[in-house]
Amino acid sequence: MVAYFREEELLSQHETSINLVRGLAHEIKNPLGGLRGAAQLLQRELADPGLHDYTQVIISEADRLRDLVDRLLGPYRRPQLASVNIHVVLEHVASLLEAETAGSIKLIRDYDPSLPEFAGDQTQLIQAVLNIVRNSMQALQEANTEQPRITLCTRVVRNITLGSETHRLLCSVEVIDNGPGVPEELLSKIFYPMVSGRASGTGLGLAIAQTILSQHGGLIECKTVPGETRFQLLIPLEALPADLPAGMHDQQENIRG
Ligand SMILES: Nc1ncnc2c1ncn2[C@@H]1O[C@H](COP(=O)(O)OP(=O)(O)O)[C@@H](O)[C@H]1O
Ligand SMILES: [Mg+2]
Repeated sequence: MVAYFREEELLSQHETSINLVRGLAHEIKNPLGGLRGAAQLLQRELADPGLHDYTQVIISEADRLRDLVDRLLGPYRRPQLASVNIHVVLEHVASLLEAETAGSIKLIRDYDPSLPEFAGDQTQLIQAVLNIVRNSMQALQEANTEQPRITLCTRVVRNITLGSETHRLLCSVEVIDNGPGVPEELLSKIFYPMVSGRASGTGLGLAIAQTILSQHGGLIECKTVPGETRFQLLIPLEALPADLPAGMHDQQENIRG
């Protein structure tokens, strides 16, 4: 049996930092609304239109900050569960990748067709996989990797302990690239918000993806060496949220059986 205890510890640290960011985001957002409103009122009272430039700066900077905060708060809505086919999720991501790279990166599909559908939030799962695939794409492009390729691999895996819970049946999705690998000094931190190895990065992609997986009862792991980087998403197939509609329970029974 495989156990992922260390990851659970990481996850709880991750959750703490997520909660911190989330709390901060709310604290920023509330006064921000007041600030913007006051600047608008002030603008209306200013007789000299030349001074509007200043109020406009306040308003547009407040808007920029609000957008950033919205992005920080964005992925934290509760997942809306429905029956998800993981291959539909991956094909959606694949079509985006193919459109963005115009065939310059080879995409290999290694799917296990026996993977059952499960209860999940399709939109959020697309977001999670896309964030990971985009990182691979960027790593391959920035390193000018020869014969760049990304493999999407799905499997049913059994008997894996995530933290304190052992799951009999899990869906495994691996995103594998042949890029330069995650720099060693970054590896222990990449799932934290605001940690980025790229000058133009926000450092939110993996934090958001990990949050989405955690809302599905699963997690993301990374194994990396130069020439092969694997991000593995593990989603328990039998974990059944209590508030799922009745139809979903029936379907879940089939998966169990
Ligand atoms: N497949 C990969 N290959 C190499 N480095 C990676 C890969 N995926 C993630 N990383 C590293 O992890 C960092 C964090 O990723 P992410 O959270 O998506 O933030 P961002 O992409 O905005 O930097 C990246 O900046 C990069 O340094
Ligand atoms: Mg990213």
